This record gives sequence, structure tokens and C-alpha cells, in this order.
Amino acid sequence: MSLTDTEGESVAMANHRLLKALRREQVDRTPIWIMRQAGRYLPEYRALRQRAGSFLTLCKTPELACEITLQPVQRFALDAAILFSDILTIPDAMGLGLSFAEGEGPCFERPLRSRADIERLRVPDPASDLSYVLDTVKLVRAALGERLPLIGFSGSPWTLAAYMVEGRGGTNFSRIKGMTFDAPKDLHQLLGLLAKSVIAYLSAQRASGAQALMIFDTWGGILSEHGYREFSLAYMKMIVEALRSGEEAASAPLILFTKGGGNWLEAMADSGCDALGLDWTVDIGRARSRVGHRCALQGNMDPAVLGARPERIREEVALLLQQYGYGSGHVFNLGHGITPEIDPAKVAAVVDAVHELSEAYHR
Ligand code: CP3
Repeated sequence: MSLTDTEGESVAMANHRLLKALRREQVDRTPIWIMRQAGRYLPEYRALRQRAGSFLTLCKTPELACEITLQPVQRFALDAAILFSDILTIPDAMGLGLSFAEGEGPCFERPLRSRADIERLRVPDPASDLSYVLDTVKLVRAALGERLPLIGFSGSPWTLAAYMVEGRGGTNFSRIKGMTFDAPKDLHQLLGLLAKSVIAYLSAQRASGAQALMIFDTWGGILSEHGYREFSLAYMKMIVEALRSGEEAASAPLILFTKGGGNWLEAMADSGCDALGLDWTVDIGRARSRVGHRCALQGNMDPAVLGARPERIREEVALLLQQYGYGSGHVFNLGHGITPEIDPAKVAAVVDAVHELSEAYHR
């Protein structure tokens, strides 16, 4: 599959499918991309990671991060590339000392343990402290040209704070949740600083060439509804408002994804974002009737479906397209990232099924 021939259609069309769907404009087929599409399920990713030595070296070397970003779009007829990086680049740039132990996920050498630790933090300057990310965005955009849009991203302030306070993945979140009750002022100070950091970071990605932006709020769903509104949504709203007020406001649609956020879709839609990412626990048809007139929807096939036989995968794709129904405003994706054991042939099966079966919904 070459980048210059997408199912015999003009490539210019395919390029804009994602951006049009995010704006709920008419499309020819439902666009698809996949969270973690560049990752360990791809043998070419594993080979390059081994050569580089570590995941963080890949992220911090723009030529390598660019190559990895392009790997999945060279192999599959996906409708977008997503920047290869990580959400934890911001806390790393703040000096917390990020590392990834083999098979154990992220770990900070200097997690936040006191008010003084929070007071020492500064908003990173993307142009100097995160220049490797912006350089990757520029390289990818030069490589893709007008063929496919590039999605830039950041973690949400709440999700970043959770890692910075817990210090690593795989905890029960007792420290960060404890702060919501016992030290809300300190937590709000941290979240405010992170919101400023995310605004600067996403604006810089956009100025460097990212054509859509996504906020990953992976841990918003561990909060109560009022906790979510106060500690996660309020800060995402600030980010949406800031990104919409700039000169380039209209140039890159913004997607909000709270994993486990199915209860609060209406409140999320009220933030003014262009699209909501859905995890697989939500019926996308019902989500559409709840918020579909306000924003587009992205998702939401259970990642576990990719373990099934290709015919069964096709049935699940057909069901999801049917649940969403006729018309634009749907970006097909999984409800969370693809897992490392998946056979890449299954990704090809999903992409082809989405493009083939969705045509009927856009006539
Ligand atoms: O989607 C893409 O293809 C873009 C790349 C991307 C990565 N991380 C690459 C990655 C994106 C968008 C992320 C976001 C990210 N990072 C999130 C939010 C998304 C989500 O999953 O909800 C989170 C929570 C992180 C933090 C993080 N990074 C964790 C918890 C881990 C370890 C988990 C695991 O799968 O082992 C990472 C590492 C990571 N980020 C890998 C990749 C490809 C695996 C690194 C490797 O071992 O090679």
C-alpha cells in the first residue's frame, strides 16, 4: 500500500477525510486511525527500538520519532498519522527525571512529594525544553506533505498530575486522590501550571504543523463526577478556550478523550471541543444522540476485538458503523490503545472493513 494510491481514489480526498469528519462536514467514507498505531505490535517498531536502545531515545531523536510516526501509515491505509511521542514529555521537561523500565511503564526519579516540590515547578518553554518534539512534528509534516494530516497531542493536566504525584504507573492513585480531599489548593496550583504548560505545548505543536490536536485524559475516569468537573474538566476547558482564542484558532480541531468518561459526555461537549474520544464501554449511537449535534465522536471499538478472527472483526466494525448511523462526524478508532500482542494483519482487516462498509453511510 503506497501513500500515493489509496484504493484508487485521489489522495487529496483521503487527506482531508479526518479533518472534515472532525468538523462534521460530509465525507466519502468514515476515516480511521488507531490509538498507539505506532507501537510494539509492529515488527519494524520493535526493530528500531532495539537499535535505538530505549523508548525515550526514540522519542527524543526527531529522525527516529519521525520514522516511527510514518511506519503505520506506510503499512496501512490509515487516514491520519499521530505524532510518536509520549504524554510524559512535559513532566520530564519540568525536571522530574522520567525513565521507562522494561515492561514496567513510566517512572519518575523525583515525584512530587510536598508543596515545596510544586512551588519549584516552572512552565516549560516548548521551543527550548521540548524542541525535539517540535522538530519531530516538522519532519513528519515535511515527509507527509499534503497526503495525510498529522495529529499532535498532550496529556490532560489531571492525568499528568496523577503520574507526577504517584511517581509511576500501576498504583491505586491513593496519593493524587488524597490530594483532592486534603490538599486541593496545592493540587489546583499544580493543575493550573500544567494547564499553562499544555496550552503552550499544543500551540507550539500546532504552529510546527500539527493539523489536529488530542488531549489524553487517561485517568479522568477514576474521579467522582464532581471531582472530575473540578480537577479534570475545568482545566481541559481552559485549554480548549485558550487554543480557540489564538490567531490559528480554527486551524486544528481539538479532540478530548477521557477514558471512563461515558457518564459526563454532555459536560465534556460543553467545553467547546470539536470532538470527543469514547472508550468502548459507551454505545456510540446513544453518545451521538446525547452530544452529536455539538461535536464529532471518535472511537470506539474494544481493542480486544483485534484478537478475534478477521470475519468476526468485520462484524464488529459493521455493528459500530450501524450504531453511529448515517452522516458525518464519526472518526473510527479503538476505545483505547492497540495492545502489543496484536497481529498487524488484523489492523489491515479493520482499516479495510471501515473504508468498505462505511461508504453506504455517506451517500
Ligand atoms: O498513539 C500513538 O501511536 C502515538 C504515540 C503515543 C505513545 N504514548 C507511545 C508509547 C501516545 C499518544 C502516548 C500517550 C500516552 N502515554 C498515554 C495516554 C494514552 C493512553 O494510553 O491512555 C499515557 C497514559 C502514556 C504514558 C505511558 N507511556 C505509559 C503508561 C506507557 C507504558 C505502557 C505500555 O504500553 O507499556 C508508555 C510507553 C509508551 N508510549 C509506549 C509507546 C509506543 C511503549 C514503549 C515501549 O515499550 O516501546
